[in-house]
Amino acid sequence: MTERLKLAALIGSTRERRYGDKVGNWFAQEAQRLGDFELSLIDVADIDLPSRHLAEPTPAMKAFTSKLAKADAFVVVTPEYNHSMPGHLKHAIDQATEEWHAKPVGFVSYGGVSGGLRAVEHLRQVFAELHAVTVRDAVSFHGVWEHFADGAGPLDPKRSSGAVKTMLHQLKWWALALKEARSRAPYTVG
Ligand SMILES: Cc1cc2nc3c(=O)[nH]c(=O)nc-3n(C[C@H](O)[C@H](O)[C@H](O)COP(=O)(O)O)c2cc1C
Repeated sequence: MTERLKLAALIGSTRERRYGDKVGNWFAQEAQRLGDFELSLIDVADIDLPSRHLAEPTPAMKAFTSKLAKADAFVVVTPEYNHSMPGHLKHAIDQATEEWHAKPVGFVSYGGVSGGLRAVEHLRQVFAELHAVTVRDAVSFHGVWEHFADGAGPLDPKRSSGAVKTMLHQLKWWALALKEARSRAPYTVG
């Protein structure tokens, strides 16, 4: 298998003056530097999703789900809002079904004291329902504003880069294994 694995990273925060784009762009740079994946960055704030679940998908929904369909692996960059994921992120995840199936998901989380890890724990339940496999190790920033204020990066860059490497190593293993398995037999549900 010589083709590079495709990784779609989702920036899950849409808040004005958010940190999500800073954390997401930092992660994208780290992932590109490591070079194991062909990366596409999907910003949930840029997706023109309807607020209701429509019977027929709009062009924006189709464009979003076709990006997910092409990916071999995902990373979700999520803050913690009230001990969970942002509503916009959940709404975006809910637009797709089989596009998530039998693929691995890693996390970069951030927030206040818990570093977004409570949002990650909820996301693990969501992705289990979507037949996706979440990798154990995550990248996490508590007190995110202390790391990414004024365009700065992580306070301990070596440690944070190491966490990305560990998470992407696990993601790559699962992406290879599941891509091979999907090519041998379609993943069916039920
Ligand atoms: C609506 C809302 C709820 C929040 N709830 C939590 C929380 O439960 N735990 C926490 O550690 N931080 C919480 N925070 C702090 C955020 O994690 C922090 O502000 C982070 O920067 C938000 O991500 P964003 O800047 O990309 O929007 C909350 C922030 C908002 C806006």
